[in-house]
Amino acid sequence: MTTATTSSALYGEALHGSPVHVRHADGRCVPLAAARWLGAARGADMALLARAHGPVLDVGCGPGRLVCALAARGVPAMGVDTDREAVRLTRRAGGAALQRSVFDDLPRQGSWGTALLADGNIGIGGDPPRLLRRVAALVHPLGRVLLELAPPGGAAASAAVRLETPDGRRGEWFPWARVPSDSAEALCRKADLRLLEAWSVDESDAVGIRRRRWFAAASRG
Ligand SMILES: C[S@@+](CC[C@H](N)C(=O)[O-])C[C@H]1O[C@@H](n2cnc3c(N)ncnc32)[C@H](O)[C@@H]1O
Repeated sequence: MTTATTSSALYGEALHGSPVHVRHADGRCVPLAAARWLGAARGADMALLARAHGPVLDVGCGPGRLVCALAARGVPAMGVDTDREAVRLTRRAGGAALQRSVFDDLPRQGSWGTALLADGNIGIGGDPPRLLRRVAALVHPLGRVLLELAPPGGAAASAAVRLETPDGRRGEWFPWARVPSDSAEALCRKADLRLLEAWSVDESDAVGIRRRRWFAAASRG
């Protein structure tokens, strides 16, 4: 039997370790990577953080592993996330975070040294050029946007997704986008940004499964 619930409720469960999946409109179903977000920053995160100059705004910070890792390095950082539980967990871990949408009014607009769109957060809202233009406006004219992308290949695409649990509970559909790494330059152009660098890093997860993560850095100038 399937039961309707909210994405927010299911995301909250995922942030407490319960198995939650992402259902794509084409039928694919993949586990939500919450276990990685709940751990400490590691692997490819380190190369990302090394490129982040403060103050850093982590857009869609989740439970705050990147905000906390930056703070531990002495880099001023704040997360912004629409999800109340994500913000609570970030603060509980010692990080600064605001419960707000990236499209809302935010502190230090136009003066962040770096904005992060990690863990596929370029997908937020399903309209990557709009999101990237918004994030670009948040950083200082000499600042940078660091984004994580999908593996190369295939077209950039936006589609509805929803969260589901193995016991049949389903959240509402919401828009999300996938941007492959080889579309980074075209995306930056649409957002009036300049692609500065693209890189990828191999890492192993907690059970030793290897995977590669893809990133890009862009600036306003
Ligand atoms: C893929 S998860 C990111 C995980 C996170 N980077 C981490 O380290 O745990 C996407 C996050 O974006 C947040 N989000 C979705 N829409 C948002 C918006 N409009 N503004 C800010 N955050 C948003 C979600 O609540 C969720 O925490």
